[in-house]
Amino acid sequence: MKFFIDTANLAQIQEAHDLGILDGVTTNPSLMAKEGIKGEAAILQHYKSICEIVGDGDVSAEVFSTDFASIIEEGKKLAAIDSNIVVKVPMIKDGVKAIKWFTDNNIRTNCTLVFSAGQAILAAKAGATYVSPFIGRIDDSSWDGVELIAQIAQIYSIQGFKTEILAASIRNALHIVKCAEAGADVCTCPLDSILGLLKHPLTDIGLAKFLEDAKKM
Ligand code: G3P
Repeated sequence: MKFFIDTANLAQIQEAHDLGILDGVTTNPSLMAKEGIKGEAAILQHYKSICEIVGDGDVSAEVFSTDFASIIEEGKKLAAIDSNIVVKVPMIKDGVKAIKWFTDNNIRTNCTLVFSAGQAILAAKAGATYVSPFIGRIDDSSWDGVELIAQIAQIYSIQGFKTEILAASIRNALHIVKCAEAGADVCTCPLDSILGLLKHPLTDIGLAKFLEDAKKM
Protein backbone atom coordinates (compact mmCIF):
# COMPACT_ATOMS: atom_id res chain seq x y z
CA MET A 1 0.00 0.00 0.00
CA LYS A 2 1.28 3.45 -0.95
CA PHE A 3 1.41 6.28 1.62
CA PHE A 4 0.37 9.75 0.55
CA ILE A 5 0.19 12.75 2.87
CA ASP A 6 -3.05 14.74 2.79
CA THR A 7 -1.88 18.32 3.23
CA ALA A 8 -0.62 21.39 1.38
CA ASN A 9 1.75 22.28 4.23
CA LEU A 10 5.31 22.18 2.90
CA ALA A 11 6.95 21.55 6.31
CA GLN A 12 4.71 18.53 6.95
CA ILE A 13 5.31 17.18 3.44
CA GLN A 14 9.06 17.55 4.00
CA GLU A 15 8.81 15.78 7.40
CA ALA A 16 6.91 12.82 5.91
CA HIS A 17 9.31 12.69 2.96
CA ASP A 18 12.32 12.69 5.31
CA LEU A 19 10.84 9.65 7.06
CA GLY A 20 11.50 7.80 3.78
CA ILE A 21 8.02 6.31 3.40
CA LEU A 22 6.22 8.97 1.37
CA ASP A 23 4.84 8.00 -2.05
CA GLY A 24 2.89 11.16 -2.82
CA VAL A 25 0.68 14.04 -1.75
CA THR A 26 -3.00 14.90 -2.03
CA THR A 27 -4.40 18.39 -1.63
CA ASN A 28 -7.82 19.95 -1.90
CA PRO A 29 -9.11 23.55 -1.96
CA SER A 30 -9.67 23.52 1.82
CA LEU A 31 -6.09 22.40 2.48
CA MET A 32 -4.67 25.00 0.04
CA ALA A 33 -6.76 27.78 1.60
CA LYS A 34 -5.49 26.72 5.05
CA GLU A 35 -1.94 27.52 3.86
CA GLY A 36 -3.06 30.97 2.67
CA ILE A 37 -2.41 30.20 -1.02
CA LYS A 38 -4.33 32.74 -3.16
CA GLY A 39 -4.42 33.44 -6.89
CA GLU A 40 -3.49 31.29 -9.90
CA ALA A 41 0.24 32.10 -9.93
CA ALA A 42 0.62 31.28 -6.22
CA ILE A 43 -1.38 28.05 -6.61
CA LEU A 44 0.74 26.82 -9.54
CA GLN A 45 3.95 27.79 -7.70
CA HIS A 46 2.83 25.97 -4.56
CA TYR A 47 2.18 22.75 -6.51
CA LYS A 48 5.63 23.14 -8.09
CA SER A 49 7.21 23.38 -4.62
CA ILE A 50 5.30 20.28 -3.47
CA CYS A 51 6.48 18.34 -6.55
CA GLU A 52 10.08 19.36 -5.85
CA ILE A 53 9.87 17.93 -2.31
CA VAL A 54 8.27 14.60 -3.26
CA GLY A 55 10.43 13.97 -6.33
CA ASP A 56 8.96 10.90 -8.04
CA GLY A 57 5.72 10.77 -6.03
CA ASP A 58 2.27 11.64 -7.36
CA VAL A 59 0.79 15.00 -6.37
CA SER A 60 -2.99 15.43 -6.63
CA ALA A 61 -4.03 18.97 -7.57
CA GLU A 62 -7.75 19.66 -7.48
CA VAL A 63 -9.73 21.68 -10.04
CA PHE A 64 -12.18 24.33 -8.78
CA SER A 65 -14.38 24.27 -11.89
CA THR A 66 -17.59 22.28 -12.23
CA ASP A 67 -18.36 22.51 -15.96
CA PHE A 68 -16.67 20.26 -18.53
CA ALA A 69 -14.85 22.92 -20.60
CA SER A 70 -13.47 24.74 -17.55
CA ILE A 71 -12.41 21.50 -15.81
CA ILE A 72 -10.43 20.55 -18.94
CA GLU A 73 -8.82 23.99 -19.21
CA GLU A 74 -7.91 24.04 -15.52
CA GLY A 75 -6.72 20.41 -15.51
CA LYS A 76 -4.44 20.98 -18.51
CA LYS A 77 -2.76 23.90 -16.69
CA LEU A 78 -2.28 21.79 -13.55
CA ALA A 79 -0.94 18.80 -15.51
CA ALA A 80 1.59 21.07 -17.25
CA ILE A 81 3.24 21.99 -13.91
CA ASP A 82 5.00 18.62 -13.55
CA SER A 83 4.70 15.08 -14.89
CA ASN A 84 3.82 13.88 -11.37
CA ILE A 85 0.69 16.01 -11.14
CA VAL A 86 -2.55 14.02 -10.97
CA VAL A 87 -5.64 16.13 -11.73
CA LYS A 88 -8.22 15.77 -8.96
CA VAL A 89 -11.76 15.98 -10.28
CA PRO A 90 -15.04 15.84 -8.30
CA MET A 91 -17.56 13.01 -8.78
CA ILE A 92 -20.13 15.01 -10.74
CA LYS A 93 -21.53 14.49 -14.24
CA ASP A 94 -19.12 16.90 -15.95
CA GLY A 95 -16.35 15.54 -13.75
CA VAL A 96 -16.88 12.01 -15.07
CA LYS A 97 -16.88 13.33 -18.66
CA ALA A 98 -13.67 15.23 -17.92
CA ILE A 99 -11.99 12.17 -16.37
CA LYS A 100 -12.73 10.24 -19.59
CA TRP A 101 -11.29 13.11 -21.64
CA PHE A 102 -8.15 13.30 -19.46
CA THR A 103 -7.75 9.50 -19.69
CA ASP A 104 -7.98 9.64 -23.49
CA ASN A 105 -5.38 12.42 -23.48
CA ASN A 106 -2.91 10.67 -21.14
CA ILE A 107 -3.52 12.95 -18.16
CA ARG A 108 -3.83 11.05 -14.90
CA THR A 109 -6.78 11.74 -12.60
CA ASN A 110 -7.98 11.29 -9.05
CA CYS A 111 -11.78 11.15 -8.76
CA THR A 112 -12.65 12.82 -5.46
CA LEU A 113 -15.69 13.15 -3.17
CA VAL A 114 -16.62 9.48 -3.58
CA PHE A 115 -19.02 8.07 -1.02
CA SER A 116 -20.56 4.99 -2.68
CA ALA A 117 -19.63 1.86 -4.65
CA GLY A 118 -21.73 3.10 -7.58
CA GLN A 119 -19.67 6.28 -7.81
CA ALA A 120 -16.48 4.19 -7.64
CA ILE A 121 -17.68 2.03 -10.57
CA LEU A 122 -18.36 5.16 -12.63
CA ALA A 123 -14.92 6.60 -11.84
CA ALA A 124 -13.27 3.34 -12.92
CA LYS A 125 -15.35 3.16 -16.13
CA ALA A 126 -14.17 6.68 -17.00
CA GLY A 127 -10.58 5.50 -16.51
CA ALA A 128 -9.65 7.40 -13.34
CA THR A 129 -6.13 6.62 -12.15
CA TYR A 130 -7.28 6.88 -8.53
CA VAL A 131 -10.66 6.89 -6.82
CA SER A 132 -10.92 8.65 -3.45
CA PRO A 133 -13.58 7.35 -1.05
CA PHE A 134 -13.76 9.69 1.99
CA ILE A 135 -13.86 7.17 4.79
CA GLY A 136 -13.71 9.55 7.78
CA ARG A 137 -16.66 11.58 6.50
CA ILE A 138 -18.61 8.34 5.93
CA ASP A 139 -17.89 7.30 9.54
CA ASP A 140 -19.04 10.78 10.64
CA SER A 141 -22.42 10.11 9.02
CA SER A 142 -22.80 6.82 10.95
CA TRP A 143 -21.87 4.52 8.05
CA ASP A 144 -18.75 2.36 7.82
CA GLY A 145 -16.03 3.94 5.65
CA VAL A 146 -13.69 0.94 5.78
CA GLU A 147 -16.53 -1.33 4.64
CA LEU A 148 -16.85 0.81 1.51
CA ILE A 149 -13.13 0.35 0.78
CA ALA A 150 -13.56 -3.44 1.06
CA GLN A 151 -16.64 -3.35 -1.21
CA ILE A 152 -14.87 -1.29 -3.90
CA ALA A 153 -11.78 -3.54 -3.67
CA GLN A 154 -13.96 -6.61 -4.24
CA ILE A 155 -15.80 -5.03 -7.20
CA TYR A 156 -12.59 -3.79 -8.84
CA SER A 157 -10.98 -7.19 -8.44
CA ILE A 158 -14.00 -9.10 -9.86
CA GLN A 159 -14.36 -6.64 -12.76
CA GLY A 160 -10.66 -6.22 -13.44
CA PHE A 161 -10.76 -2.40 -13.07
CA LYS A 162 -7.29 -0.86 -12.99
CA THR A 163 -8.25 2.27 -10.98
CA GLU A 164 -6.35 2.42 -7.68
CA ILE A 165 -8.34 2.80 -4.47
CA LEU A 166 -7.03 5.84 -2.58
CA ALA A 167 -8.55 5.85 0.91
CA ALA A 168 -9.02 9.51 1.88
CA SER A 169 -10.39 11.44 4.86
CA ILE A 170 -8.25 9.29 7.18
CA ARG A 171 -8.60 10.36 10.81
CA ASN A 172 -6.26 8.05 12.76
CA ALA A 173 -3.67 5.27 12.61
CA LEU A 174 -6.33 2.56 13.01
CA HIS A 175 -8.00 3.80 9.81
CA ILE A 176 -4.70 3.18 7.98
CA VAL A 177 -4.42 -0.38 9.31
CA LYS A 178 -8.07 -1.13 8.49
CA CYS A 179 -7.71 0.29 4.97
CA ALA A 180 -4.62 -1.85 4.37
CA GLU A 181 -6.63 -4.89 5.50
CA ALA A 182 -9.61 -3.92 3.30
CA GLY A 183 -7.50 -3.72 0.13
CA ALA A 184 -6.79 0.01 -0.35
CA ASP A 185 -3.95 0.63 -2.82
CA VAL A 186 -3.13 3.99 -1.23
CA CYS A 187 -3.91 5.76 2.03
CA THR A 188 -3.71 9.54 2.09
CA CYS A 189 -3.28 10.66 5.66
CA PRO A 190 -2.62 13.69 7.84
CA LEU A 191 0.94 13.62 9.28
CA ASP A 192 -0.41 12.84 12.78
CA SER A 193 -2.10 9.64 11.58
CA ILE A 194 1.11 8.47 9.87
CA LEU A 195 3.14 9.20 13.02
CA GLY A 196 0.42 7.50 15.07
CA LEU A 197 1.50 4.20 13.50
CA LEU A 198 4.77 4.48 15.43
CA LYS A 199 3.15 4.49 18.81
CA HIS A 200 2.79 1.60 21.23
CA PRO A 201 3.18 1.92 25.03
CA LEU A 202 5.08 -1.40 25.22
CA THR A 203 7.64 0.00 22.74
CA ASP A 204 8.20 2.99 25.07
CA ILE A 205 8.41 0.81 28.19
CA GLY A 206 10.70 -1.70 26.45
CA LEU A 207 13.02 1.01 25.12
CA ALA A 208 13.27 2.71 28.53
CA LYS A 209 14.30 -0.64 30.09
CA PHE A 210 16.84 -1.37 27.33
CA LEU A 211 18.39 2.09 27.72
CA GLU A 212 18.57 1.65 31.50
CA ASP A 213 20.23 -1.77 31.13
CA ALA A 214 22.57 -0.41 28.44
CA LYS A 215 24.13 1.78 31.13
CA LYS A 216 25.19 -1.41 33.00
CA MET A 217 27.06 -2.75 29.98
O1 G3P B 1 -8.42 15.30 0.39
C1 G3P B 1 -9.66 14.78 0.73
C2 G3P B 1 -9.82 14.28 2.13
O2 G3P B 1 -8.77 13.51 2.58
C3 G3P B 1 -10.53 15.13 3.09
O3 G3P B 1 -10.38 14.76 4.44
O4 G3P B 1 -10.55 15.15 6.85
O5 G3P B 1 -11.47 16.85 5.26
O6 G3P B 1 -12.61 14.67 5.58
P1 G3P B 1 -11.30 15.40 5.58
